[in-house]
Amino acid sequence: MALAATAAEAENYIQWLKQVFFIELTERALPNPFYIKYQNIQKGRIVMEFVTLNNGIKMPLEGFGVFQVPDPAQCEQAVLEAIESGYRLIDTAAAYMNEEAVGAAVKKCGVPREELFITTKLWVQDASFEGARKAIEASLNKLGLTYIDLYLIHQPMGDYIGAYRAMEEAYREGKLRAIGICNFYPHRLADLCETVEVIPAVNQVELHPFFQQEDALALMKEYGVIPEAWGPFAEGKHGIFSHPVLTEIGKKYGKSAAQVALRWNVQRGVVVIPKSVHKERMEQNMNIWDFRLSDEDMSEIAKLDIGHSEIVDHSDPGFVRMLHSMKIHE
Ligand SMILES: NC(=O)c1ccc[n+]([C@@H]2O[C@H](COP(=O)([O-])OP(=O)(O)OC[C@H]3O[C@@H](n4cnc5c(N)ncnc54)[C@H](OP(=O)(O)O)[C@@H]3O)[C@@H](O)[C@H]2O)c1
Repeated sequence: MALAATAAEAENYIQWLKQVFFIELTERALPNPFYIKYQNIQKGRIVMEFVTLNNGIKMPLEGFGVFQVPDPAQCEQAVLEAIESGYRLIDTAAAYMNEEAVGAAVKKCGVPREELFITTKLWVQDASFEGARKAIEASLNKLGLTYIDLYLIHQPMGDYIGAYRAMEEAYREGKLRAIGICNFYPHRLADLCETVEVIPAVNQVELHPFFQQEDALALMKEYGVIPEAWGPFAEGKHGIFSHPVLTEIGKKYGKSAAQVALRWNVQRGVVVIPKSVHKERMEQNMNIWDFRLSDEDMSEIAKLDIGHSEIVDHSDPGFVRMLHSMKIHE
């Protein structure tokens, strides 16, 4: 079989390898020009897939988000339970005010540091060269880590080019294994990529069945930037957890609407970072690696796109002013 040109072909290639050789593809690279995908298989079961970022480092295709979990004890407990449930990527941010709690869980969890993938983000208040240098140190201290796996600019606001230069410096020093951005809509992404030396590895944007952003994904692909979905459940909007289309599709596979929504994103090459403070939901959300949506299912879900966010509007001056006014330190 020839090398795969698309994610779908790569998936077929895996199935073919399995049938022909009855092999388990553990940590094996799969051919794909967009991202090299790996699978982690335990006891014959896929437990996680990975993408390879444009600098060669491996990132799990699913992680755990801790936005809106400001209580330290609850956050620490949630991260410990998430790690127990199989999550290895944890997504926090300076602005979530819970980096210390994430760090405490990382220290306690018993999983070797190198198996974890810790992401945090630079807040708008620190969007300048000097601001970012200090913010990176502050995040390392709060997390209790010597390096951060992925460091993202949280919002395309303030002097983010200056901030990015400081991130490039810290990346070269080995304090950040990969650097990237969030919420960079296509024109901003193109501008950044045409300006900087280190092309961002990841762009974390809102991506779910009701806001699919196919054009933005095409541009990310052109620049070799991996898309990561924040709000993969649309933060519960549109009745996503009991949505009739997702529920019907799920019935065919014995899966919930939530699992279908996550599977749809990972199947199109998007990293997902669902948040939950309930262990049974964490486990449910992680249980998406043993089924595959058909092309027909993917097309049905494509029809749910409404083409805009109902959560935030980055083009709204009021929203921009609100983010600038939000201070997370003196
Ligand atoms: N870069 C950015 O600008 C940005 C913006 C927003 C979010 N993020 C990141 O993305 C992560 C995920 O996004 P999000 O937290 O905004 O929203 P989300 O993951 O789309 O939705 C979280 C909500 O879904 C509920 N939930 C989770 N699993 C469920 C299930 N299986 N069944 C029913 N309900 C379920 C959670 O409730 P319970 O917790 O009560 O279970 C919570 O209310 C964040 O935590 C954060 O790390 C980044």
